[in-house]
Amino acid sequence: MISLYIHSVVPIFMYFCIVMRIDIITVLPELLNGPLNHSIVKRACDKGLAEIHIHNLRDYAKGKHRNVDDYPFGGEAGMVMTIEPIEKVINSLKKERAYDEIIFTTPDGKNFDQKTANHLSTFENIIILCGHYKGVDQRVRDHLITMEISIGDYVLSGGELAAAVIADSIIRLLPGAISDETSALSDSFQDNLLSPPVYTRPAEYNGWKVPEILLSGHTAKIDEWKYDESLRKTKELRPDLLTDEENS
Ligand code: 6GU
Repeated sequence: MISLYIHSVVPIFMYFCIVMRIDIITVLPELLNGPLNHSIVKRACDKGLAEIHIHNLRDYAKGKHRNVDDYPFGGEAGMVMTIEPIEKVINSLKKERAYDEIIFTTPDGKNFDQKTANHLSTFENIIILCGHYKGVDQRVRDHLITMEISIGDYVLSGGELAAAVIADSIIRLLPGAISDETSALSDSFQDNLLSPPVYTRPAEYNGWKVPEILLSGHTAKIDEWKYDESLRKTKELRPDLLTDEENS
């Protein structure tokens, strides 16, 4: 009886939500296991909302040393990721299912933001190829990659941390990933505003007081206060997120 009950209730919920699958291709799988195995992302995967599959690029490389890089033509410093192992792993994945986007993480990609995270969270299958060394043979970018993402104007040692950032930001948006459904929607950036300050107990510590309004129980006034604080913070810290009108 118990198993019948579970089988009739759980799948009804599952039918309505597509399981998002993220395949990450990397030369450093160990770097990804940590960040993606905790908290909201782990719980979302445990609940069956998302699957993350990590592929070691070296498994697709030939030769005793399983090299995935080579010297650049034209004689610049640094190594370049070669085409063959990348094409092999991407093709083997594409044989199994259709991918909505094949992303390459690279400092010269398009800047990642909440709007892109929202967009990617509507997809079913995505691949993230983590950039390394001096970069990847341009022909991979020209023929296999559909989207190039940077997570900011600074250089990381590799694209793994960027891939973890991207996966985390997408998975937390999946319906059911966060128990309070409104929570992800009230994140900073969702409405181009930073989040208002938050407080918890005690209401006074060392003489530092929580704003009176938050203790009043007056929901409409509290909402108004939160909006005003969001706007004040955004004007002060990130005026670039606001229109000229909102900034005045
Ligand atoms: Cl996606 N990769 C690397 N290596 N550095 C970065 C980056 C990505 N985004 C910002 N810096």
